[in-house]
Amino acid sequence: MSHYLFLVASAREPGHVGNTEWLARHAAASLPAAAQQQWLHLTHMEVPAFVDQRHTVGTYPKPTGDLLTLLDATMACTDLVFVAPVYWYSFPSSLKHYLDHWSAWLRVQDLGFKDAMAAKRLHLVTTSGSRPVAQPMIDSTKLCAEFLGMPFAGALWGKGGPPAAVESDREAIAQAARFFVGS
Ligand SMILES: Cc1cc2nc3c(=O)[nH]c(=O)nc-3n(C[C@H](O)[C@H](O)[C@H](O)COP(=O)(O)O)c2cc1C
Repeated sequence: MSHYLFLVASAREPGHVGNTEWLARHAAASLPAAAQQQWLHLTHMEVPAFVDQRHTVGTYPKPTGDLLTLLDATMACTDLVFVAPVYWYSFPSSLKHYLDHWSAWLRVQDLGFKDAMAAKRLHLVTTSGSRPVAQPMIDSTKLCAEFLGMPFAGALWGKGGPPAAVESDREAIAQAARFFVGS
């Protein structure tokens, strides 16, 4: 059974649904009822600083707290969806921070993170002021997928800006309705 994990990386205040989440929820509405959905807001979670001990200790313990929640959710999903606005032509820091922890999870003994990730698909839903500025982030997402042998299932882009701006982007709304169909 499909299990979609939506990682929302917008830094909007709690309780405020940003453009990117709105577009992702519109896309998710077309998922079959049997597909499981889990939504986590990265900026509302306490994620400790990543420490690069790859060339000293060499391994990492299994995390605890919110980071364990993120690891467990990541391991359990079949489809990972980055729901991330463009910040400075790139990933928001909360998503980048989560990704840095992949370097640790690759080195947690007996976890099998790399093999598990290769069996999942990676999707990106993003918004920004214009489409060209999203390209570096789309390229980064593809490269992250490639690094872990994950199929990249595509990017959905909408024109964002102030709250609800994307609700006027008819093309993005039409694409959202098809984004997960057949995936
Ligand atoms: C810190 C920050 C950096 C941003 N950088 C860019 C940028 O480089 N290019 C751009 O077009 N929009 C940029 N934006 C605008 C957001 O991408 C846009 O408002 C987006 O729709 C916000 O998504 P949200 O409503 O889901 O939070 C930035 C916004 C913030 C808060």
